[in-house]
Amino acid sequence: MPTNLSINSQRLWDSLMDTAKFGGTEKGGICRLALSDEDRQVRDWFKAQCETLGCTVRVDEAGNMFAVRPGRRNELAPIAMGSHLDTQPTGGKFDGVLGVLGALEVLRTLHEQDYQTNAPIEVVNWTNEEGSRFPPAMMASGVFAGALTAEYIYQQTDRDGVTFLEALERIGYRGPMKAGDHKFSAMFELHIEQGPVLESEKKIVGVVTGVQGMRWYEVTIKGEDAHTGATPMWLRKNALVGAARMIEVVDAIGQKHQPGVATVGLIENKPNSRNVVPGEVFFTVDLRHPDENTLDVMEAELRAALEASLAPLRLSYEEKRIWSSRAVKFAPELIDCVRRAAAKSNFGMRDMVSGAGHDAAYIARVAPTTMIFVPCEGGLSHNEAESTSYDECAAGAQVLLDAVLAYDEMLAGETRK
Ligand code: GLV
Ligand code: MN
Ligand code: MN
Repeated sequence: MPTNLSINSQRLWDSLMDTAKFGGTEKGGICRLALSDEDRQVRDWFKAQCETLGCTVRVDEAGNMFAVRPGRRNELAPIAMGSHLDTQPTGGKFDGVLGVLGALEVLRTLHEQDYQTNAPIEVVNWTNEEGSRFPPAMMASGVFAGALTAEYIYQQTDRDGVTFLEALERIGYRGPMKAGDHKFSAMFELHIEQGPVLESEKKIVGVVTGVQGMRWYEVTIKGEDAHTGATPMWLRKNALVGAARMIEVVDAIGQKHQPGVATVGLIENKPNSRNVVPGEVFFTVDLRHPDENTLDVMEAELRAALEASLAPLRLSYEEKRIWSSRAVKFAPELIDCVRRAAAKSNFGMRDMVSGAGHDAAYIARVAPTTMIFVPCEGGLSHNEAESTSYDECAAGAQVLLDAVLAYDEMLAGETRK
């Protein structure tokens, strides 16, 4: 390890708590949907903090923000660190936020110690990682990586019909730069685990070797609105009953293919009136598995069940796979830097595959990439009670700093040869 720099744990914690007020909820979580006013507020804060450190902040066409700190050798592509500042509607204080503010803390530490890296260092805030308001998830890192186009994401709409482009322009974060125009030497993403493994094994650091594959679907079941009092049971076309059967089926697919998982997370019942037999139901399906072949089987089972379950109820349906993200393996040389960084601080560690989606999964297509996980209490995430301790946050940022500096040394050595 090249240095003995230490991050400032208190400063990191203060930033986590200060920014939690942008969209802070009564239950102590954050509701900061992508491209909302709260998202704009936290972006403005982030930009100002980076500028205080003398960094230039650039914004691309997808709203991704890049704060760059020059290195000794600016012909090298920057080493990036980052994650996302948007949250779920009932999100916690750490999902995504720790990765951006941990990276900001690394930047502050380098600045304060006047430490010069070889390559430039870049802190990134990726737009709309959650995909909760505008599907799909990891949308803007997807454009950066060339997996999605700006035109495609611009026309995605939220459930109120607002387009991504309208929302992006409204908050003033449609930047001039083409997404993906500049290259990274590497990207490191610090994140909470969002599952229970590290906590249960009393480990501090998850060395993330990859991300499981995931697929999203939208289904609309169509029946017929009818009077609940006057329509006999045998004449009904009740779309909600069809949806109920499908929700059971989706859960059973997940149970059957563990460690795969399957979820219906969003459902809209129409007309949603207590005395109308529901004529139409919209719902989403989220299937995940580390193995693409098993995901194919899960998908086939979902489709067969739609066919088999809805026809006897005299219901029709439309189903569309709207997004998929292949299973990803991270870069061995970066994983090694994370292991060495965790060992330097004597943190207990274990290898793991991420169950959640992350911007790193897309960036791995265009640059060597990896992730660092720290525990979260009870494995709880996408929940206002999400909690990672002061010490665990600090540990994550310290490992991020040391891993980035180890990679910077390696890169300089290689490019000198
Ligand atoms: C993002 O948080 C996802 O895993 O869906
Ligand atoms: Mn996240
Ligand atoms: Mn999330």
